[in-house]
Amino acid sequence: MAVSEEQLKHGANVYNTFCVGCHGVNVVSNKSVPDLRWMAPPFHENFKPIVLGGALKGLGMVGFADVLNEKDADAVHAYILDKANDAKEKRDNPDSAWWLNLKTRTYETLGELMSKYL
Ligand code: HEC
Repeated sequence: MAVSEEQLKHGANVYNTFCVGCHGVNVVSNKSVPDLRWMAPPFHENFKPIVLGGALKGLGMVGFADVLNEKDADAVHAYILDKANDAKEKRDNPDSAWWLNLKTRTYETLGELMSKYL
């Protein structure tokens, strides 16, 4: 699927209007709801039935057919995939700043805990 900058921008808007409250800023979830960057393939295949049709309504994921159309759904899907690709790139390049930050933070936290409890 070819994705334009415009579509990504629109997807970001849709996401930040309707999804961010539950699924988290920049599509990074706090784990109380699924992190959409690591969605399993069946969820990608059923993206529209879920997001527009409310297929997972019973589980707390309402449908947005009353406020979003198919184009909006495609755009937000593209935005989520874009974020997922970013995350994958970072994971696959462990020396990136992102990883170093995480490592530093982990060691700092460990150090703090150890100084407190050991
Ligand atoms: C009111 C909170 C809420 C909002 C707002 C919300 N979601 Fe969800 N969403 C959930 C919950 C809870 C689940 C988990 C359902 C389950 O257990 O499978 C979910 C699951 C999903 C799934 C299935 C993936 C999976 O692993 O279960 C997709 C896709 C999804 N949401 C997309 C969106 C999109 C796109 C938006 C914005 C248009 C959105 N959601 C807004 C709560 C929300």
